[in-house]
Amino acid sequence: GAPIEVDLTPIAEGQDIKVFWRGKPIYISHRTKKQIEDARAVSVSSLPDPQSDEQRVKPGHDQWLVVVGICTHLGCIPIAHEGQYDGFFCPCHGSVYDTSGRIRQGPAPTNLDVPPYTFVSDTKIQIG
Ligand code: FES
Repeated sequence: GAPIEVDLTPIAEGQDIKVFWRGKPIYISHRTKKQIEDARAVSVSSLPDPQSDEQRVKPGHDQWLVVVGICTHLGCIPIAHEGQYDGFFCPCHGSVYDTSGRIRQGPAPTNLDVPPYTFVSDTKIQIG
């Protein structure tokens, strides 16, 4: 599949959009300060799939989280802005992801994947 470009300007702080790339749903979240702080306050070594928030976003663009919206358990599509960590909640078997898309609770073994993407400007990304 070809790379896609996504304009981020319509996504207000605290909102998410879903786009499709190579047939996969991709969530793009414009995180609030609190959502970023929550993601960074956790002790990384205590996580089931230890990754820092900084590893999952692009430097200088900390407010943007881009993840593949496919639960790493059995492939359902998690719901954004749901669940006790204000991240993503998978209704199939109850996996709960945080505001960094990291698995925090439930049967999913790993964090939501981060697709390959780059910022082509401050307000536009290219996925793929
Ligand atoms: Fe998401 Fe099972 S597919 S929890």
